[in-house]
Amino acid sequence: MDELVDERIVPGTSLRVTAVSVGASLLGNPPRPDGTPAETAEALARAMFASPLAMIDTSNNYTQGRSETVLGSAVRRDGLPAGKAIVTKVDADPETGALDRDRVWRSFEESIARLGLERLPLLHLHDPYTIEFEEAFAPGGAIQGLMELRDQGLAGALGIAAGPVSLMRRYAESGAFDVLLTHNRYTLVDRRGEELIDLAAERDMGVFNAAPFGGGLLAGRSETYAYTQAGPELLAWVARARELCERWGIPLHAAALRFSLRHPGIASTIVGVGRPERLAQLEELQATTIPDEFWPALAALGTPPSTLED
Ligand SMILES: NC(=O)c1ccc[n+]([C@@H]2O[C@H](COP(=O)([O-])OP(=O)(O)OC[C@H]3O[C@@H](n4cnc5c(N)ncnc54)[C@H](OP(=O)(O)O)[C@@H]3O)[C@@H](O)[C@H]2O)c1
Repeated sequence: MDELVDERIVPGTSLRVTAVSVGASLLGNPPRPDGTPAETAEALARAMFASPLAMIDTSNNYTQGRSETVLGSAVRRDGLPAGKAIVTKVDADPETGALDRDRVWRSFEESIARLGLERLPLLHLHDPYTIEFEEAFAPGGAIQGLMELRDQGLAGALGIAAGPVSLMRRYAESGAFDVLLTHNRYTLVDRRGEELIDLAAERDMGVFNAAPFGGGLLAGRSETYAYTQAGPELLAWVARARELCERWGIPLHAAALRFSLRHPGIASTIVGVGRPERLAQLEELQATTIPDEFWPALAALGTPPSTLED
C-alpha cells in the first residue's frame, strides 16, 4: 500500500487528508541559524503545494503570521491545488493574551485575509494557555466565537490543538470540538497521548498526531524534545534506539514516523517541513520496510524516560 497517498476522511469532518500532513510552523522563518535566506519560503510553499500530501497545517501565530502570508501568496499566485487543504488555528492576541469571542473572530479574519481564502475546512483553537477553561466556555468566550464561525459555514469543523494531556482531555470531553490535535505525546519516546486517541475514538472525533520526531530529536536534527533540551536519560534511550535501528537497517526517523502511522486511531500525522527536499525524503521514509518483529525488539529497550509532565 502506498501510505503516502493513503487518503481518508477525518472523523467528525468532511476533510480529506493523507496519512501524513505537512506542518508549516517553520515556513516563513527569517534567516535561520544556517543562513537560509527568507526567499526560500516561497520555494518551500510551492513544494508543499506540489506534494501529494493533502493537508498543510499552519496557525495564526506561526512565524509571526508569515507562515500564513507565504501560503497566501502561493494561493494567490497558483490557486489552491485540487485536493489540497490549508488548516489554521486561532491564537490569543499576541500583545494582550486575550482569547475571547471577539479575538477568535479577529484571528480568523486575519488568517483568511493572509491566506486569500474565504472559509476553512477546519479551524483549531490553538494553545489556549492565557485563559481558564471556564472562561473559554463562558458567554462571550472563545468557544462562542468558534461556534459562530462553524454555524455560519466559515469553518467546516472545529478542533482543539494543544499540549498538556489533562487540558486536552477537558476540551475534548466538552463536546464542542470535532477533532483534536495532540503533539509530542504519541511518539517513540512518549505515549501519554494514547488516552486522547482512545477518547477521540469513543467520541468519533478525528485525531491529528503532530511532531512525530519530537520537533527534531528523533530526526537527528537536535537534542531537544518537545522544544526543550532533552535530559541525559532520554538522550541515552534514543542512542540505544538508534543503535537498534542501525542493526535492523532502519533509519530512526523512519521508525518514528511509522510508529505514528501504524496507530489506527490517528487520522493524519503532521510532520514539520522546513525545506523543500523534506517532502521527497518523507516519501522515502514512508516506503521504508519495517518488519513486524522490529516493534517487540524496540519494546525490549524498556519504557523511554518521560520528559513531559502533563
Ligand atoms: N499546538 C499545536 O497545534 C502544535 C504543536 C506542535 C506542532 N504542531 C504542528 O505539527 C507540525 C510538526 O511539529 P514539529 O515541526 O514541531 O515537529 P516534528 O514534525 O517532530 O519535527 C520537525 C523536524 O523534523 C525535521 N524533519 C522533517 N522531515 C524530515 C526528514 N524527512 N528527514 C530529516 N528530518 C526531517 C525537520 O527538519 P527541517 O527543519 O530541516 O526541515 C524539523 O526540524 C508543526 O509544524 C505544526 O504544524 C502543532
